[in-house]
Amino acid sequence: MKQLITLCTLSLLALAGTPALAQSMDKMAAVTPASAYPVAPAAGLFDAFGGQTGIRSLMNDFVVRLKADPRLAEAFKEANAANLAKQLADQVCQLSGGPCVYNGPTMKEAHSSMDVSRADFNALVEVLQVSMDARGIPFTRQNQLLALLAPMHRDVINVR
Ligand code: HEM
Repeated sequence: MKQLITLCTLSLLALAGTPALAQSMDKMAAVTPASAYPVAPAAGLFDAFGGQTGIRSLMNDFVVRLKADPRLAEAFKEANAANLAKQLADQVCQLSGGPCVYNGPTMKEAHSSMDVSRADFNALVEVLQVSMDARGIPFTRQNQLLALLAPMHRDVINVR
C-alpha cells in the first residue's frame, strides 16, 4: 500500500508540471548541475535525515543495497561504491536544504551512456525506501525527499 501511495505520488508529480514548466526544467537540466531542480525542500528535511552524517550513512547503505538488488545489480556492478555514495550524499544534502554543493555531472550526462527504464527507476525508488525505513526515517519525510527526486525521472529514464 505504502509503495502504491509513493508510486502514485511520483506519477502525479511527474504529470503535474505544465508544459511551460516542464520545458524550462528541461532547459535548466541541460545547463545546470543535477541538484538545481527548482523545487524547495520541506522545512527541516535535512535535519530529519540526520544532517550530513545521517545522509552519508543512508547513501552508503543505499549503494550496498543497489548492488545487491537482483533487478539493479547488473546496472551497478561496475559502479565505484564510495564515489557513488559520496555523489548521492552531496546531491541529497543539497536538495534537502543542507550546506553541500553537488559538483557532479547533470542527471542527463550521468545516465546517458546506459539504458535506464521506468522499471529501473521504480526499482531504485523502492530500494531507497527500504534504506530509509532501515534508518527509521518517517514516511512523510521519505516522501518529501522522493518529491525532490521525482522531477529527475525525465533526465534519468532514457528507454521505454
Ligand atoms: C532519482 C534517481 C537517480 C538519481 C538521483 C541518480 C543519481 C546519480 C548520481 C549522482 C550519480 C553519480 C554521477 C557521477 O558522479 O558520475 C549516478 C550514477 C549512476 N547511476 Fe544514477 N541516479 C538515479 C537513478 C538511476 C537509475 C534508475 C539507474 C539505473 C538502473 C542509475 C544508474 C546509475 C549508474 C550505473 C551510475 C554510475 C555509477 C558509477 O559508475 O560510479 N541511476 N546516479
